[in-house]
Amino acid sequence: MTTPLPPTHRALRQDVYAEPPTVQTVATPQPTPGSAVLKVLQAGILNYTKDVYNGVRKHPYPVPLTLGQSAVARVVALGEDATTLKIGNLCLLDITIRGRDDIDRSAGATFLSAIVQGFTPASARLMADAWRDGTYAEYVRWPLENCYVLDEDRLFNKLGYQMGDLMYMTKLMVPYGGLGSLCMDLKPGETVVVYPATGGFGSAAVHLCLDLGAGRVICMGRNVEALEGLKSAATPEKRPRIETVPLSGRWEEDLKVLKSLGGNIDVFFDISPPTAGKEVLKAGMVALRHGGRMCIMGGGDQDIPLPNGVFMHKDLTLKGKWMYEPMDVKRLISLVEAGIVKLHRQGEAVTPYGASVVAKFSLEDWQKAFNEGERVGSAGIVVFEP
Ligand SMILES: NC(=O)c1ccc[n+]([C@@H]2O[C@H](COP(=O)([O-])OP(=O)(O)OC[C@H]3O[C@@H](n4cnc5c(N)ncnc54)[C@H](OP(=O)(O)O)[C@@H]3O)[C@@H](O)[C@H]2O)c1
Repeated sequence: MTTPLPPTHRALRQDVYAEPPTVQTVATPQPTPGSAVLKVLQAGILNYTKDVYNGVRKHPYPVPLTLGQSAVARVVALGEDATTLKIGNLCLLDITIRGRDDIDRSAGATFLSAIVQGFTPASARLMADAWRDGTYAEYVRWPLENCYVLDEDRLFNKLGYQMGDLMYMTKLMVPYGGLGSLCMDLKPGETVVVYPATGGFGSAAVHLCLDLGAGRVICMGRNVEALEGLKSAATPEKRPRIETVPLSGRWEEDLKVLKSLGGNIDVFFDISPPTAGKEVLKAGMVALRHGGRMCIMGGGDQDIPLPNGVFMHKDLTLKGKWMYEPMDVKRLISLVEAGIVKLHRQGEAVTPYGASVVAKFSLEDWQKAFNEGERVGSAGIVVFEP
């Protein structure tokens, strides 16, 4: 039976770009064709969420806006065209919203809910006119195809996870977009370099590679202490498959170290921020084996220096990836539900680096929440429980 939606609900909203948001009581969203309305249980806060909404990151987005991020939520109402979703389903909400009439993506009608309106007029229009509001609210209206049903019985009763453990999936989803079968297709036994390995998505990539069966995971980073932390956060049986490489930022030196490790490198995975040196990618490309693959998920507008001759003679593959495909999300959830890719489990002695929820906030405490997200950085997950 459907419980009637309350006429109003609380949402963290910004009326003027880059100005402080406020918790407002607004009309509860109603289901329309193509959408579900969900009760938000937990919504993530990134280390740079504060800088998105205070304008430092200069992300373009329309206002007024309900702020938000990836979330775990429960379906409370459905548009009449829902075919598989049911009232009561627990869902992972994917923030990558795509134009339904942009099948080949030629219009670039893709944006990240409540974070950035995308990079074309079509994506900006889609966000402003159709899917403006994010998950920092008690209720959210969400595209049906972005609600991924989770098997609660399997996750909670059989695998022993708790609600907060599920949020790590939203971190794993990004590197899975680059490393999964639709992009790099990382295979068991392969050697992969993760650059840099110490950030939120980098450390998730390391954990993912290990669970997907990579033979060796070479972790590059400039922070030696963080690299060691990453290694000690892996379970004892996985630890020997992790190697760490302190970063010099000069490609010849980084190449020398990569070569000194010996063996073939099958995949180089880049998830560097715009501020990080891109010279490392040259070292990575030269270090790859014949037929090796490189995935660029790192951000930035600068040119990347790549060695033409090496690229051609070694039959290398270079792919870029923004976020992930819908099938990646389905596959990652299946891998988690099968117990192959592991989440943090509360109370376990050894947990993947940065995989556990370390702080929970109400919407009213948004300032503390954003500061805590920044302070915790990649070492944990901070959430709102609206
Ligand atoms: N393609 C996509 O779909 C996609 C999606 C999300 C994010 N991204 C990209 O991924 C990047 C990382 O995101 P995140 O959330 O993991 O960030 P994060 O948690 O802030 O981690 C940043 C990482 O970069 C390292 N780093 C920072 N400045 C550096 C520098 N100057 N030289 C070398 N390493 C440096 C940090 O290492 P230290 O420990 O040394 O500080 C850390 O490992 C984002 O900035 C974005 O560009 C791409």
